[in-house]
Amino acid sequence: MLGQQFAAKINRGLPAPARAQEQRQQFGVGQRRRATRQHLFARSFVFGPVAYRHDFNIPRQDRARQAENPRIPVSYPPVMLSADSYMSAPALANLRILLGVSGGIAAYKAAELTRRLRDAGAEVRVVLTENAARFVTPLTFQALSGQPVRCGLWDESAEAAMGHIELARWAQRIVIAPASADLIARLAHGLADDLLTTLCLASTAAVALAPAMNQQMWAHAATQANLTVLRARGISVLGPGSGSQACGEFGAGRLLEADAIVAALAAMHGPQLLAGTRVLVSAGPTFEDIDPVRYVGNRSSGRMGFAVAQAAAEQGAEVQLVAGPVHLPTPAGVVRTDVRSARQMHAAVMQHIPQSDIFVSAAAVGDYRPAEIATHKLKKTGGSLTLTLTENPDIVAQVAALKNRPFVVGFAAETRDLQAHAQAKLAAKKLDLIAANQVGAGAGFDCADNELLLLWPGGKEHLARADKIVLARALVARIAALREPALGRTRPGGRKR
Ligand SMILES: Cc1cc2nc3c(=O)[nH]c(=O)nc-3n(C[C@H](O)[C@H](O)[C@H](O)COP(=O)(O)O)c2cc1C
Repeated sequence: MLGQQFAAKINRGLPAPARAQEQRQQFGVGQRRRATRQHLFARSFVFGPVAYRHDFNIPRQDRARQAENPRIPVSYPPVMLSADSYMSAPALANLRILLGVSGGIAAYKAAELTRRLRDAGAEVRVVLTENAARFVTPLTFQALSGQPVRCGLWDESAEAAMGHIELARWAQRIVIAPASADLIARLAHGLADDLLTTLCLASTAAVALAPAMNQQMWAHAATQANLTVLRARGISVLGPGSGSQACGEFGAGRLLEADAIVAALAAMHGPQLLAGTRVLVSAGPTFEDIDPVRYVGNRSSGRMGFAVAQAAAEQGAEVQLVAGPVHLPTPAGVVRTDVRSARQMHAAVMQHIPQSDIFVSAAAVGDYRPAEIATHKLKKTGGSLTLTLTENPDIVAQVAALKNRPFVVGFAAETRDLQAHAQAKLAAKKLDLIAANQVGAGAGFDCADNELLLLWPGGKEHLARADKIVLARALVARIAALREPALGRTRPGGRKR
């Protein structure tokens, strides 16, 4: 009810509290009222299709009354507005968004979206596919974004310094609107045959796409199968809306309105679960040298740890990543230290622990290393060779044993008796949370997806098989939820800053 009164006040232009008034002007609240309302309802778009209506939140009788006399204020259900929503900063403040536009009849609507994203505080750079540039001009987007617009991969001056990689690293979010059926198919198959698809592969930024196409193209099994693949990889699909189409047909496939896309992005963007938190993540394998050319290692790809680092950064954490020998791109906003051996990883982790609130030990640290490293390449002797191994430091156990410790998350990679082994490790190492996964043929290590069993003192959660970034986001949400009651208190796993 309070919200409704507040809304009515704004609509009638009566004076709001001084600070709110000032911030309303600063953030253009008067003009973006609808976006704010939709923000609060944004989650409904993420699971589209949704019914298409410009003014879907306004009761029908109010719309009719307003059409007769625009000065009559509309009323909103009370939950939609609160004083807080007017006092907050722009929903996408300082977020670096790469807007990809593909070739469809709705490409012209991306111009409005560019403006709305900037209104919401985002920095926007636009990439048009070559087919999009047949529908709309780069100049429009250059003027609206205030940045040069790129349309192709083969631009000699832009690529003089590998511009596409620079752009891929710059982006914190990639939004493709409209996303054509063809582009969706190319993304699902990991093609990189133009600038936009190359950027999607080269970037660690979260990707959201807003499809727009003829309703039959949308309903086609091929399109739906491609979207299933993309969703499983953690890509968000916004909409589409449904209604009358440019081709004269009626059904699902309309591009969501710009405000709805901004609102859905804002809902994904905030509130940030780990804002103000410092997270240390270890990732990848360790390699233990035998001689100058050989080593003992393991099959960890580092993808799970890198995904956790990315998910923590997405949730506003300051992330330090200690990475074993892997060739993965550093997620946007993450600071990385590369190491090779378990002892180097131990040193790097211990150096960063005093500045960390959360430690996620996702690295597959070798338990043993050769007792001696030969100075020269070992020669064949014709007989068998015995390597003497010595134990490596147990990094996660040492961190958990510290007097003033962060919240400690371990990983357990097991080939059998997953829950029993993980439960024992949780207790023995005094961890706050353990993420257990079955490893072996085609599972856990060295693949893009995984399945996790989360265990913590007094609770458990099963995360079904999904892309590692999807699991990492769920894991980060669980960490945030478990840490919540401990914030501000000094206890194991709840360090006071
Ligand atoms: C007039 C016209 C309108 C089109 N509209 C759409 C559309 O709304 N959605 C879609 O998926 N494809 C549409 N297409 C087909 C795409 O433009 C075509 O699949 C193209 O290859 C997409 O290229 P891109 O994904 O690289 O931008 C349209 C084609 C034409 C000629």
